[in-house]
Amino acid sequence: MDAFADVEDTGLDDDGREAFLSDVIDGLSAATKTLPCKWLYDVRGSALFEEITHLDEYYPTRTELALLTDIADDLGAALPAGAWVVEFGSGSSRKSDLFLNALTDLRGYVPIDVAGDYLEAAAGALAERLPHLKVIPVVGDFTAELPLPAALDDAPTVGFFPGSTIGNFEPAQAAGFLARARRTLGDGAFMVVGVDLKKDLDVLLPAYDDAKGVTADFNLNLLDRINRELGGGFDRARFAHRVRYDDGEGRVEMHLESTVDQTVHIDGHAFNFRAGETIHTENSYKYAIEDFHRVAGGAGWRAQQHWTDADGLFSIHLLAAA
Ligand code: SAH
Ligand code: AVI
Repeated sequence: MDAFADVEDTGLDDDGREAFLSDVIDGLSAATKTLPCKWLYDVRGSALFEEITHLDEYYPTRTELALLTDIADDLGAALPAGAWVVEFGSGSSRKSDLFLNALTDLRGYVPIDVAGDYLEAAAGALAERLPHLKVIPVVGDFTAELPLPAALDDAPTVGFFPGSTIGNFEPAQAAGFLARARRTLGDGAFMVVGVDLKKDLDVLLPAYDDAKGVTADFNLNLLDRINRELGGGFDRARFAHRVRYDDGEGRVEMHLESTVDQTVHIDGHAFNFRAGETIHTENSYKYAIEDFHRVAGGAGWRAQQHWTDADGLFSIHLLAAA
């Protein structure tokens, strides 16, 4: 049964709506229009991302899952017994079972995600799959300080950040996130991070511009969400999904391009778009191993071990608090 088939979108609370509106007004008022990628994940966006992870073109998920299977024994040997696992951006928690099962005498699992309704459904389904596991979901934004639940005792902590979600940060923000996670998880913590690697554009670009148009739908859903939650007036037929690679930055960029000159009204504000002008909705940085080591090292983590698949598509890093 699909645990996510009937997830109801209860929308944002008042504070969440305020934050969303403020980001939309700021982002669309800027000279180069941009929106933070965390807003891509309402219930529909989370379901579309999950669909992306099953696409032929989207190599990261199947590659990371296979790699996690291969290195499960190594992870079990390297990580402390009796630990709490804290997962950042847990989404459907599809990779979590593999990781949690690799650890000995697990104390409990704290999945953190900004998409609250989807997180609750994922945590419920995981608790059914692993009935003896203590699961404490936390709805929150990991780009800000996020205290861990008081229930976490003195047991060791292991952060899990798969999927190359770290690539959705600019490198300086990634270092900020890792430094914050280092403080939150505490002395003696470990962290396991999935990081997508640089590769040929004929593999990279289709992963973000698939033939079925699921990624386009994921991107355009942001406009529907603004309409639904903020009373926006976007016509999604007047925008197109665009993907490009910035070689200098080493990142895939996702944009929504206005196909005509138009004015869009949102909550009493008017935003003008020229034909061809874009809203930059996501960055997905691709790393070389040593580049990621530099970012992690600067954030107080020692790179203890890393693994890559045979084709060199994806990497998993074991970090220890320095
Ligand atoms: N870990 C899963 C899902 C990755 S998709 C995997 O590897 O497949 C990225 C996840 O991070 C989504 O579930 C999204 O809702 C969540 N997310 C994105 N930005 C976030 C933020 N600022 N704070 C908390 N969660 C966030
Ligand atoms: C969650 N994150 C790592 C995905 C990525 O590959 O950057 C989000 C995504 N965007 C488009 N496709 C998938």
